Amino acid sequence: MIKRIQEWLSRKDRQEPVEISPDNIPRHVAIIMDGNGRWAKRRGMPRVVGHQNGMKAVKRATIAANDLGVEFLTLYAFSTENWTRPKDEVDFLMRLPVEFLAIELDELIEKNVQVRVMGNTEALPSHTRKAMEEAVARTLSNTGLILNFALNYGGRKEIEDCMRALGKDIQAGILSPEEITSELIDNRLSSSGLPDPDLLIRTSGEMRLSNFMLWQIAYSEFWFTDAYWPEFDKTHLMQAVAEYQRRTRRYGGLK
Ligand code: IPE
Ligand code: IPE
Ligand code: MG
Repeated sequence: MIKRIQEWLSRKDRQEPVEISPDNIPRHVAIIMDGNGRWAKRRGMPRVVGHQNGMKAVKRATIAANDLGVEFLTLYAFSTENWTRPKDEVDFLMRLPVEFLAIELDELIEKNVQVRVMGNTEALPSHTRKAMEEAVARTLSNTGLILNFALNYGGRKEIEDCMRALGKDIQAGILSPEEITSELIDNRLSSSGLPDPDLLIRTSGEMRLSNFMLWQIAYSEFWFTDAYWPEFDKTHLMQAVAEYQRRTRRYGGLK
């Protein structure tokens, strides 16, 4: 009974018309795509079926973000901690970008989307790395939405790598400690060139960061939904943007 009421409530919630203003669209939306496994389990199917359907949600989210005029969309696809999952699941997840790009790259090019990747790509299996590199190369001159995949990405690893690189530069005498600024660090992270996310979305009801963009989300607005990632569609993105537009961003000051 309780479950039925909850479902009714969430369906009712989805039916509310969502109004957003075209003037205050978040430039950079970052999404922690979570809940693929639970989505599948609920249907009595193996976890990988959830990942397969998650891929369709990636397409929906990309088109929706493009339609709304979002400039940068970062999708957390695989974390540095996800290697601890069973090998079969990891292998499946590593084949997904290959499949996704084989199906979607031409349309992404048509839509003027620029594909990027952030994370430790050297450690990816060669077929995954090659597919990503090809997509990046073929979309390099596109000027539309920037679709940035966080693949083998970890916020702490990124900061660790940055600190090591800065330490080496100091040791080599080409950088002084006084020259280290927030801007310099920004430029040395794998998100270099992207503005900080304005809006961070996480699906599946979890309310944690799971090592995602720890430096960059200092002043991002957060939006959570109970929907599992394979269910995510344009309505969810619009709900998130509508909520974002109701927020007052103060950055520690007074408005
Ligand atoms: C998100 O779904 C995809 C990845 C983390 C790669 P999950 O696989 O984490 O699904 P749940 O959270 O176990 O349901
Ligand atoms: C975060 O989801 C990583 C990605 C979405 C790629 P997880 O499912 O790995 O996070 P935890 O384990 O629930 O924190
Ligand atoms: Mg998860």
